Order: sequence, then structure tokens, then C-alpha cells
Amino acid sequence: MDIWHVRGGNRLFGSCRVQGSKNATLPILAASLVLPARSRLRNVPQLKDVAAAKEILTHLGCRLEDETDGVLLVDSTAPCGAEVPRALMGEMRSSVIFMGALLARCGEAKLSLPGGCQLGKRPIDLHLAALRAMGAEIREEGGDLDCRTDGLHGADITLRFPSVGATENVMLAACAAKGATRIRGAAREPEIVSLQEYLRSLGAHVAGAGSDTITICGVEPRRETDCTLPGDRIVAATLACACAAAGGRILLSGVDPAHFSTVLHFLNEAGCDIIQFNDVVEIASSGALRAPGRIVTEPYPGFPTDAQPLLMAALLRAEGTTLITETIFENRYRQVSELRRLGADIRLSGPEAAVRGVERLRGASLTASDLRGGAAMIVAALGAEGETAVFDAGHIRRGYEHLDDRLCALGADLWIEHK
Ligand code: UD1
Repeated sequence: MDIWHVRGGNRLFGSCRVQGSKNATLPILAASLVLPARSRLRNVPQLKDVAAAKEILTHLGCRLEDETDGVLLVDSTAPCGAEVPRALMGEMRSSVIFMGALLARCGEAKLSLPGGCQLGKRPIDLHLAALRAMGAEIREEGGDLDCRTDGLHGADITLRFPSVGATENVMLAACAAKGATRIRGAAREPEIVSLQEYLRSLGAHVAGAGSDTITICGVEPRRETDCTLPGDRIVAATLACACAAAGGRILLSGVDPAHFSTVLHFLNEAGCDIIQFNDVVEIASSGALRAPGRIVTEPYPGFPTDAQPLLMAALLRAEGTTLITETIFENRYRQVSELRRLGADIRLSGPEAAVRGVERLRGASLTASDLRGGAAMIVAALGAEGETAVFDAGHIRRGYEHLDDRLCALGADLWIEHK
């Protein structure tokens, strides 16, 4: 158990290089299996979820080597196993992407339903339907997934919702398919573009990532590749929200501001000054914010569901009422009951939240509900009076690398007690 002790009230000043993106790293680690190759991956963040993905790769027969400065070598040239134990699958949501990777590499995959944050039902029907349409036979029994194929073939796949995970699974499986695969209604997240770049560096013919139609047709395999992961847009959003809540002026580098422009837009509407240039963005906040209107979470390029708890936490003291509609996950307000303990005034009705700004928040004992919900509690605590303790059973470490050190370097007064 980590207990985050946060003494609110300090403004944040200084600059911070944003860590590599978790949600880009995890599918690329799964993709490193698709072809026998040696991948040098740069800017890999040190996170609990990344450690879990590395454990899965090692279990399947890959050789991994950590070099300094976030460089990871993955050698997947040895024969590859096809079974991921249930305990490893349960570590994170992204383990489901090993289904497409293993079907491509081995023609079979034995796995179980993935873990990850409890944000709602999180079905995988779109993944299964798409892989079946490509020639996979998949049996589901008691949470186990037994997948095999005599050979994948290309298919025209239309996703009824632009699921990030389903898009990634199809892209990986399609690398081994005979003929072209077209994904319509594909997810357009920056992480899909990163995956396309990595697959191309392995020799795959993939085009269209970033738009709603992606085409994959065959591979001319390469044995070596070198790939740099982009900065994490949700971590950048977290730090921006922390500055908005606490007040101050911070400069974030190593992340494309366009990747979280909707978050920056609402911070600007709330009264923060934002200056962007290439991969640098400066956020300045007086700490006195106003409600920025209605926020609706949507697939990219809309406002990200991952940033919803973070922006909510930044706006708890904003003058007026912020209205939020969560459209992606049905259980993504788990942070609310904890934020109320600080004195926040939040009313919930189904997918709608109304946050009425209060004059002050006061420190309290909170329990982290999930990864972004936990980070949201830290953001809120930075803008609260007195000391807050956030009890966290490891959620925050799943997605944030040295968040405590980074915030302290910016002037926050916090420390982690390990129990
Ligand atoms: C989602 C987010 C992604 C975020 C990640 C981690 C969206 C669109 N996706 O990705 O940006 O980084 O969580 O928090 O915001 N669904 C189905 N059937 C399926 C798959 C998904 O009905 O087979 C539904 C889900 O219930 C959910 C929505 O589609 O309502 C989003 O799912 P998806 O994009 O697949 O989720 P993740 O890949 O986890």
C-alpha cells in the first residue's frame, strides 16, 4: 500500500519532461511478438503495467534487456509460446492485445479475460467479432479464451464504436493475414498512429491510422527496428490540471500539445494561460478559476475519458458550475465520493456530473479508486488546505513514473509512505 501525503497550498513552478506514453507502449510491446525481430524501443516508461507486459513477453519466450534512459530491447526471434497465464492477464487491460499478436505469430492464443481499472462492463465483443471475421475460432469458457486459426485472412471490418483495443487487435492480426484488411470506424487516437509507425518499421504495409479507415496488407519482414515512444498525453494533462488547481506556471516538454488540446482548451476557458510551441506547452494559473462550460467525453479527437477525473479535480473550486457528461465508461465517477470528502460539491445523475465550485477544500483521508481517479485525488489535494492522505493499492504506479518526484521538483509538498 502506498499512502500519498499531500500538503496543499504550494504553487507549482518549473519545467518537467513528460514520460513516455503508457497507452502507446503497451500495444507496441504486444506487437513486438507479431514477427520474429529485435526491437529497440526508446522512451519506455517504468510503470507497473509495462512491467506486467514485459513479464508476459518473457513468459512467451522473448528476451528483454533494459538499457539506461528508458531504452528497452525486445528480442522475439526465438520460438514463441501461445499461452498467457491468468494472473498475468489480470494485471492490466492491454493484455487483451496479446490475442491479436499471438494469433498472428502462432496461429493460436490461450488467454483469459483482461484486468485493468473497473470503469464499467468493458466488453470485448468487438475484438472477438473482428478476429472471427478474419478466420479465428474463439471459444470462451469461464473467463478463458481459446483462440486458434488455420490461417488468418484479410477482411472488411466495420466497428460500431471506435474501440481503441479492438482497432489494435485487428491491426496486429492483420499483419499475418492473407490479403488486405480494412478497418472502418477505427479508433483515431495518437496511440494508433504510434502502433502504425512501429508496425511499418517492422515492414508491415499499414496506412490510414489517425483517420477512421485503416488498411493493412501484408508484411515484408525486417529483423531489426528502432522506435521512439511519444510523450504521454494523459500524464501531461495530469500535470497541467495540477498546475491549474494549485496555481503557478509550469512548462511541459516531450509531448505534442495537439494530443491533449481539448484538455488545454478547457483549462484556457477556465482562466489558465496556455502557450504552445512544437512539443512544449506552458500552463499558468492564478489558482482562481471559473467553470468552463460543458465537458463531454468522446473518442479522440474529442475530450478523453482518461482526463475527465483530472479536469474535474482541477475545477472543484472554479466559480460557477461545470457540467460533465461521461459517454465512454458507465462507472467512471468513482473518484467523486472521495473528492466530496475534501468538501467538493458534486451532484451525479447517471452519466452527468454537476460540479459546483466551492470556496475552499480541506484535507482528508481518501482511497484511490483506479488509476486516473487516484491521480485526480492528488490533483485536488494540491489545491486543498491542510494535509490529505491518499491510500492507494498500487493504481497510480500503473500509469505514472515518479509522479511524486516530478511534482516535488515543481514545488509540491508531498511524499509517499510505503506500508
Ligand atoms: C479506452 C479509451 C482510451 C483509453 C483507455 C484507457 C476511448 C474510446 N477509449 O480504451 O482512450 O486510453 O480506455 O483508459 O475513449 N466496447 C465495447 N465492445 C468492445 C470494446 C469496447 O462495447 O469490444 C466499448 C466499451 O465498453 C467502452 C468503449 O467501447 O464503452 C471504449 O472502449 P475501448 O476504446 O475499446 O476501450 P479501451 O481500449 O480500454
